[in-house]
Amino acid sequence: QTADSLYIINSNAQKFFSNALVNSDEGKQIALTYLYERGFSDATIQKFQLGYNPSASNILSTHLLQQQFNPDLLIKTGLIKKNGEEWVDNYRNRIIFPIHNNTGKIIGFGARIIGKNDKAPKYINTPENEIYVKSKVLYGIYFAKQAIDKADECLLVEGYTDVISLHQAGIENVVASGGTSLTVEQLRNIKKYTDNLTIIYDGDAAGVKAALRGLDMALEEGLNVKLVLIPNNEDPDSYVRALGTNAFKSFIAENKKDFIIFQLELLLKEAGNDVTKKNAVVNQIAETLSKVNKAEDFSKQQQYVKQSAALLNVDEAGLYNLINTYK
Ligand code: UTP
Ligand code: MN
Ligand code: MN
Ligand code: MN
Ligand code: MN
Repeated sequence: QTADSLYIINSNAQKFFSNALVNSDEGKQIALTYLYERGFSDATIQKFQLGYNPSASNILSTHLLQQQFNPDLLIKTGLIKKNGEEWVDNYRNRIIFPIHNNTGKIIGFGARIIGKNDKAPKYINTPENEIYVKSKVLYGIYFAKQAIDKADECLLVEGYTDVISLHQAGIENVVASGGTSLTVEQLRNIKKYTDNLTIIYDGDAAGVKAALRGLDMALEEGLNVKLVLIPNNEDPDSYVRALGTNAFKSFIAENKKDFIIFQLELLLKEAGNDVTKKNAVVNQIAETLSKVNKAEDFSKQQQYVKQSAALLNVDEAGLYNLINTYK
Protein backbone atom coordinates (compact mmCIF):
# COMPACT_ATOMS: atom_id res chain seq x y z
CA GLN A 1 0.00 0.00 0.00
CA THR A 2 2.61 2.53 1.11
CA ALA A 3 4.99 0.97 -1.39
CA ASP A 4 2.55 1.42 -4.26
CA SER A 5 2.00 5.05 -3.34
CA LEU A 6 5.74 5.68 -3.18
CA TYR A 7 6.18 4.20 -6.69
CA ILE A 8 3.43 6.49 -7.99
CA ILE A 9 4.98 9.60 -6.43
CA ASN A 10 8.43 8.70 -7.79
CA SER A 11 7.07 8.13 -11.27
CA ASN A 12 5.23 11.43 -11.12
CA ALA A 13 8.37 13.24 -9.95
CA GLN A 14 10.46 11.62 -12.69
CA LYS A 15 8.14 13.03 -15.35
CA PHE A 16 8.39 16.44 -13.72
CA PHE A 17 12.22 16.24 -13.65
CA SER A 18 12.46 15.10 -17.29
CA ASN A 19 10.19 17.90 -18.39
CA ALA A 20 12.18 20.46 -16.39
CA LEU A 21 15.39 19.24 -18.04
CA VAL A 22 14.34 19.57 -21.65
CA ASN A 23 11.48 22.11 -21.63
CA SER A 24 12.51 24.85 -19.18
CA ASP A 25 15.03 27.56 -19.99
CA GLU A 26 16.92 26.95 -16.76
CA GLY A 27 16.97 23.19 -17.31
CA LYS A 28 18.25 23.55 -20.85
CA GLN A 29 20.86 26.19 -20.05
CA ILE A 30 22.25 24.68 -16.87
CA ALA A 31 21.51 20.98 -16.72
CA LEU A 32 21.09 19.82 -20.30
CA THR A 33 24.18 21.75 -21.33
CA TYR A 34 26.12 20.05 -18.55
CA LEU A 35 24.97 16.60 -19.70
CA TYR A 36 25.86 17.39 -23.32
CA GLU A 37 29.29 18.63 -22.24
CA ARG A 38 29.81 15.28 -20.57
CA GLY A 39 28.96 13.62 -23.84
CA PHE A 40 25.55 12.15 -23.06
CA SER A 41 23.23 11.98 -26.06
CA ASP A 42 19.50 12.76 -26.15
CA ALA A 43 18.77 9.06 -26.64
CA THR A 44 20.82 8.16 -23.55
CA ILE A 45 19.17 10.91 -21.49
CA GLN A 46 15.75 9.60 -22.49
CA LYS A 47 16.59 5.94 -21.93
CA PHE A 48 17.82 6.54 -18.38
CA GLN A 49 15.08 9.11 -17.79
CA LEU A 50 17.55 11.72 -16.56
CA GLY A 51 16.07 14.93 -15.25
CA TYR A 52 16.61 18.22 -13.45
CA ASN A 53 15.30 19.65 -10.19
CA PRO A 54 15.05 23.43 -10.71
CA SER A 55 16.93 25.81 -8.41
CA ALA A 56 13.92 27.71 -7.00
CA SER A 57 13.08 26.55 -3.50
CA ASN A 58 9.83 24.66 -4.04
CA ILE A 59 8.74 24.09 -7.64
CA LEU A 60 8.62 20.31 -7.22
CA SER A 61 6.98 20.63 -3.78
CA THR A 62 4.22 22.78 -5.24
CA HIS A 63 3.75 20.36 -8.16
CA LEU A 64 3.44 17.32 -5.88
CA LEU A 65 1.28 18.97 -3.21
CA GLN A 66 -1.16 20.21 -5.85
CA GLN A 67 -1.89 16.58 -6.67
CA GLN A 68 -3.08 15.79 -3.15
CA PHE A 69 -0.42 13.19 -2.37
CA ASN A 70 -0.21 12.36 1.34
CA PRO A 71 2.41 14.76 2.79
CA ASP A 72 3.89 12.04 5.03
CA LEU A 73 4.52 9.87 1.99
CA LEU A 74 6.01 12.80 0.11
CA ILE A 75 8.47 13.28 2.95
CA LYS A 76 9.31 9.55 2.86
CA THR A 77 10.40 9.77 -0.76
CA GLY A 78 13.09 12.25 0.27
CA LEU A 79 12.16 14.50 -2.63
CA ILE A 80 10.79 17.35 -0.53
CA LYS A 81 10.74 18.37 3.12
CA LYS A 82 9.06 20.83 5.44
CA ASN A 83 11.09 23.70 6.90
CA GLY A 84 8.73 25.09 9.55
CA GLU A 85 5.64 25.95 7.51
CA GLU A 86 7.48 26.07 4.19
CA TRP A 87 7.93 23.16 1.81
CA VAL A 88 11.31 22.94 0.07
CA ASP A 89 12.76 20.68 -2.61
CA ASN A 90 15.68 18.56 -1.40
CA TYR A 91 17.45 18.21 -4.75
CA ARG A 92 17.39 21.84 -5.86
CA ASN A 93 19.61 22.61 -8.82
CA ARG A 94 20.73 19.01 -9.26
CA ILE A 95 20.76 16.51 -12.13
CA ILE A 96 18.41 13.63 -11.33
CA PHE A 97 19.23 9.96 -11.94
CA PRO A 98 16.16 7.78 -11.36
CA ILE A 99 16.98 4.37 -9.87
CA HIS A 100 14.88 1.46 -11.14
CA ASN A 101 14.26 -1.96 -9.63
CA ASN A 102 14.42 -5.17 -11.70
CA THR A 103 10.96 -4.59 -13.14
CA GLY A 104 11.55 -0.97 -14.07
CA LYS A 105 9.74 0.79 -11.25
CA ILE A 106 11.47 3.83 -9.79
CA ILE A 107 12.55 3.13 -6.22
CA GLY A 108 14.51 6.33 -5.70
CA PHE A 109 16.89 8.88 -7.12
CA GLY A 110 20.50 9.97 -7.15
CA ALA A 111 20.85 13.72 -7.41
CA ARG A 112 24.12 15.20 -8.66
CA ILE A 113 25.38 18.67 -8.11
CA ILE A 114 26.12 20.49 -11.36
CA GLY A 115 29.82 21.02 -11.84
CA LYS A 116 32.21 21.20 -8.90
CA ASN A 117 31.44 22.39 -5.39
CA ASP A 118 33.49 21.36 -2.38
CA LYS A 119 30.91 22.51 0.15
CA ALA A 120 28.05 20.22 -0.83
CA PRO A 121 27.99 16.44 -1.33
CA LYS A 122 28.39 15.45 -5.00
CA TYR A 123 25.45 13.08 -4.91
CA ILE A 124 22.47 12.95 -2.58
CA ASN A 125 20.49 9.71 -2.61
CA THR A 126 17.01 8.70 -1.51
CA PRO A 127 16.75 7.88 2.23
CA GLU A 128 15.76 4.37 3.29
CA ASN A 129 12.04 3.76 2.97
CA GLU A 130 9.66 0.88 2.13
CA ILE A 131 10.90 0.67 -1.48
CA TYR A 132 14.43 2.10 -1.30
CA VAL A 133 16.64 -0.29 0.64
CA LYS A 134 20.21 0.81 0.10
CA SER A 135 21.74 -2.63 0.54
CA LYS A 136 19.61 -3.95 -2.35
CA VAL A 137 20.13 -1.18 -4.85
CA LEU A 138 21.85 -2.17 -8.08
CA TYR A 139 21.81 0.84 -10.34
CA GLY A 140 21.02 -0.06 -13.95
CA ILE A 141 19.78 -3.61 -13.37
CA TYR A 142 16.52 -3.01 -15.27
CA PHE A 143 18.41 -1.83 -18.36
CA ALA A 144 21.13 -4.47 -18.06
CA LYS A 145 19.42 -7.72 -17.10
CA GLN A 146 18.78 -9.01 -20.63
CA ALA A 147 22.32 -8.20 -21.74
CA ILE A 148 23.75 -9.83 -18.59
CA ASP A 149 21.81 -13.00 -19.33
CA LYS A 150 22.87 -12.98 -22.97
CA ALA A 151 26.57 -12.31 -22.28
CA ASP A 152 26.47 -14.62 -19.26
CA GLU A 153 28.53 -11.98 -17.49
CA CYS A 154 27.78 -8.99 -15.32
CA LEU A 155 30.13 -6.00 -15.22
CA LEU A 156 30.04 -4.15 -11.94
CA VAL A 157 31.18 -0.52 -11.76
CA GLU A 158 31.07 2.11 -9.03
CA GLY A 159 28.89 4.91 -10.29
CA TYR A 160 25.76 6.04 -12.12
CA THR A 161 27.65 7.73 -14.93
CA ASP A 162 29.86 4.67 -15.46
CA VAL A 163 26.77 2.57 -16.18
CA ILE A 164 25.28 5.20 -18.47
CA SER A 165 28.47 5.81 -20.48
CA LEU A 166 29.09 2.13 -21.01
CA HIS A 167 25.54 1.71 -22.28
CA GLN A 168 26.01 4.60 -24.64
CA ALA A 169 29.18 2.88 -25.86
CA GLY A 170 27.18 -0.28 -26.55
CA ILE A 171 28.26 -2.21 -23.45
CA GLU A 172 24.96 -2.98 -21.74
CA ASN A 173 25.67 -5.82 -19.29
CA VAL A 174 26.67 -3.40 -16.55
CA VAL A 175 25.35 -2.32 -13.15
CA ALA A 176 26.68 -0.11 -10.34
CA SER A 177 26.98 -0.76 -6.64
CA GLY A 178 26.81 2.92 -5.73
CA GLY A 179 30.37 3.24 -4.49
CA THR A 180 29.85 1.20 -1.32
CA SER A 181 30.99 -2.34 -0.65
CA LEU A 182 28.99 -5.16 -2.15
CA THR A 183 26.17 -6.78 -0.22
CA VAL A 184 24.75 -10.31 -0.27
CA GLU A 185 21.45 -8.96 -1.62
CA GLN A 186 23.18 -7.31 -4.57
CA LEU A 187 25.16 -10.47 -5.33
CA ARG A 188 22.05 -12.66 -5.20
CA ASN A 189 20.28 -10.33 -7.60
CA ILE A 190 23.17 -10.62 -10.05
CA LYS A 191 23.21 -14.40 -9.60
CA LYS A 192 19.67 -14.58 -11.03
CA TYR A 193 21.14 -13.73 -14.43
CA THR A 194 24.71 -15.06 -14.41
CA ASP A 195 27.43 -16.77 -12.33
CA ASN A 196 30.14 -14.58 -13.80
CA LEU A 197 30.92 -11.26 -12.17
CA THR A 198 33.57 -8.87 -13.45
CA ILE A 199 34.28 -6.04 -11.07
CA ILE A 200 35.61 -2.91 -12.79
CA TYR A 201 36.69 -0.48 -10.13
CA ASP A 202 38.84 2.62 -10.01
CA GLY A 203 42.48 1.64 -9.70
CA ASP A 204 43.07 3.82 -6.64
CA ALA A 205 43.61 2.30 -3.20
CA ALA A 206 39.99 2.94 -2.22
CA GLY A 207 38.74 1.13 -5.31
CA VAL A 208 40.91 -1.93 -4.61
CA LYS A 209 39.86 -2.04 -0.97
CA ALA A 210 36.18 -1.74 -1.84
CA ALA A 211 36.55 -4.60 -4.29
CA LEU A 212 38.46 -6.83 -1.85
CA ARG A 213 35.77 -6.45 0.78
CA GLY A 214 33.22 -8.09 -1.49
CA LEU A 215 35.34 -11.04 -2.60
CA ASP A 216 34.72 -13.72 0.05
CA MET A 217 30.99 -12.98 0.04
CA ALA A 218 30.80 -13.28 -3.74
CA LEU A 219 32.62 -16.63 -3.60
CA GLU A 220 30.21 -17.88 -0.96
CA GLU A 221 27.35 -17.02 -3.28
CA GLY A 222 28.98 -19.22 -5.92
CA LEU A 223 29.99 -16.44 -8.28
CA ASN A 224 33.14 -16.56 -10.39
CA VAL A 225 34.77 -13.23 -9.75
CA LYS A 226 37.15 -11.39 -12.03
CA LEU A 227 38.66 -7.98 -11.44
CA VAL A 228 39.79 -5.18 -13.70
CA LEU A 229 41.32 -2.02 -12.32
CA ILE A 230 41.00 1.19 -14.33
CA PRO A 231 44.31 3.10 -14.34
CA ASN A 232 45.39 6.70 -13.79
CA ASN A 233 42.56 8.26 -11.83
CA GLU A 234 40.14 7.38 -14.58
CA ASP A 235 36.84 5.64 -14.10
CA PRO A 236 34.92 3.49 -16.62
CA ASP A 237 32.98 6.56 -17.80
CA SER A 238 36.06 8.65 -18.54
CA TYR A 239 38.07 5.68 -19.77
CA VAL A 240 35.58 4.43 -22.33
CA ARG A 241 35.37 7.99 -23.68
CA ALA A 242 39.16 8.21 -23.86
CA LEU A 243 39.66 4.84 -25.54
CA GLY A 244 36.50 4.30 -27.57
CA THR A 245 34.34 1.19 -27.36
CA ASN A 246 36.63 -1.32 -29.06
CA ALA A 247 39.81 -0.38 -27.26
CA PHE A 248 37.93 -0.30 -23.97
CA LYS A 249 36.57 -3.81 -24.60
CA SER A 250 40.09 -5.04 -25.43
CA PHE A 251 41.43 -3.40 -22.31
CA ILE A 252 38.86 -5.23 -20.19
CA ALA A 253 39.48 -8.55 -21.92
CA GLU A 254 43.27 -8.29 -21.57
CA ASN A 255 43.31 -7.05 -17.98
CA LYS A 256 40.59 -9.22 -16.52
CA LYS A 257 42.21 -11.07 -13.69
CA ASP A 258 40.84 -13.91 -11.60
CA PHE A 259 40.06 -12.22 -8.31
CA ILE A 260 41.46 -14.92 -6.03
CA ILE A 261 44.78 -14.88 -7.85
CA PHE A 262 44.75 -11.07 -7.88
CA GLN A 263 44.28 -11.01 -4.12
CA LEU A 264 47.02 -13.59 -3.61
CA GLU A 265 49.54 -11.68 -5.71
CA LEU A 266 48.67 -8.40 -4.02
CA LEU A 267 49.08 -9.85 -0.54
CA LEU A 268 52.33 -11.59 -1.48
CA LYS A 269 53.74 -8.38 -2.85
CA GLU A 270 52.83 -6.58 0.37
CA ALA A 271 54.39 -9.32 2.50
CA GLY A 272 57.71 -9.24 0.66
CA ASN A 273 60.32 -11.42 2.42
CA ASP A 274 58.75 -11.14 5.87
CA VAL A 275 58.08 -14.74 7.02
CA THR A 276 55.37 -13.84 9.55
CA LYS A 277 53.53 -11.76 6.98
CA LYS A 278 53.85 -14.49 4.40
CA ASN A 279 52.33 -16.98 6.84
CA ALA A 280 49.45 -14.62 7.32
CA VAL A 281 48.96 -14.57 3.56
CA VAL A 282 48.80 -18.37 3.44
CA ASN A 283 46.11 -18.29 6.12
CA GLN A 284 44.19 -15.53 4.39
CA ILE A 285 44.16 -17.43 1.08
CA ALA A 286 43.14 -20.64 2.83
CA GLU A 287 40.17 -18.81 4.29
CA THR A 288 39.20 -17.37 0.91
CA LEU A 289 39.50 -20.79 -0.73
CA SER A 290 37.32 -22.34 1.95
CA LYS A 291 34.51 -20.09 0.67
CA VAL A 292 34.85 -21.55 -2.81
CA ASN A 293 34.24 -24.96 -1.30
CA LYS A 294 31.17 -23.72 0.53
CA ALA A 295 29.68 -23.03 -2.85
CA GLU A 296 30.17 -26.78 -3.46
CA ASP A 297 32.38 -26.47 -6.46
CA PHE A 298 35.20 -28.89 -5.74
CA SER A 299 36.92 -28.92 -9.12
CA LYS A 300 37.05 -25.16 -9.08
CA GLN A 301 38.60 -25.26 -5.62
CA GLN A 302 41.12 -27.89 -6.73
CA GLN A 303 42.38 -25.65 -9.53
CA TYR A 304 42.75 -22.73 -7.17
CA VAL A 305 44.63 -24.82 -4.61
CA LYS A 306 47.08 -25.93 -7.30
CA GLN A 307 47.66 -22.40 -8.55
CA SER A 308 47.85 -20.87 -5.08
CA ALA A 309 50.19 -23.51 -3.67
CA ALA A 310 52.57 -22.86 -6.55
CA LEU A 311 52.48 -19.09 -6.05
CA LEU A 312 52.92 -19.46 -2.28
CA ASN A 313 55.57 -22.13 -2.62
CA VAL A 314 53.79 -24.46 -0.16
CA ASP A 315 52.57 -28.00 -0.75
CA GLU A 316 49.01 -28.69 -1.85
CA ALA A 317 48.15 -31.18 0.88
CA GLY A 318 49.19 -28.70 3.56
CA LEU A 319 47.06 -26.02 1.98
CA TYR A 320 44.06 -28.38 1.90
CA ASN A 321 44.51 -29.10 5.60
CA LEU A 322 44.57 -25.42 6.35
CA ILE A 323 41.47 -24.79 4.23
CA ASN A 324 39.62 -27.47 6.21
CA THR A 325 40.28 -25.62 9.45
CA TYR A 326 38.15 -22.73 8.10
CA LYS A 327 35.01 -24.82 7.62
P1 UTP B 1 32.31 8.85 -7.80
O1 UTP B 1 32.81 9.92 -6.91
O2 UTP B 1 33.29 7.99 -8.50
O3 UTP B 1 31.32 9.58 -8.81
O4 UTP B 1 31.34 7.94 -6.93
P2 UTP B 1 31.01 9.21 -10.34
O5 UTP B 1 30.02 8.10 -10.37
O6 UTP B 1 32.28 9.05 -11.09
O7 UTP B 1 30.21 10.51 -10.81
P3 UTP B 1 30.72 11.70 -11.73
O8 UTP B 1 31.33 11.08 -12.94
O9 UTP B 1 31.66 12.52 -10.94
O10 UTP B 1 29.45 12.41 -12.04
C1 UTP B 1 30.86 6.69 -7.38
C2 UTP B 1 29.44 6.48 -6.89
O11 UTP B 1 29.38 6.59 -5.48
C3 UTP B 1 28.17 7.17 -5.06
C4 UTP B 1 27.35 7.41 -6.33
O12 UTP B 1 26.55 6.27 -6.58
C5 UTP B 1 28.44 7.53 -7.39
O13 UTP B 1 27.97 7.29 -8.69
N1 UTP B 1 28.38 8.47 -4.38
C6 UTP B 1 29.51 9.21 -4.61
C7 UTP B 1 27.41 8.95 -3.53
O14 UTP B 1 26.38 8.29 -3.32
N2 UTP B 1 27.59 10.19 -2.93
C8 UTP B 1 28.69 10.95 -3.17
O15 UTP B 1 28.77 12.09 -2.63
C9 UTP B 1 29.68 10.44 -4.02
MN1 MN C 1 21.64 -17.35 -18.76
MN1 MN D 1 36.34 6.37 -6.91
MN1 MN E 1 32.99 9.73 -12.99
MN1 MN F 1 33.90 7.61 -10.51
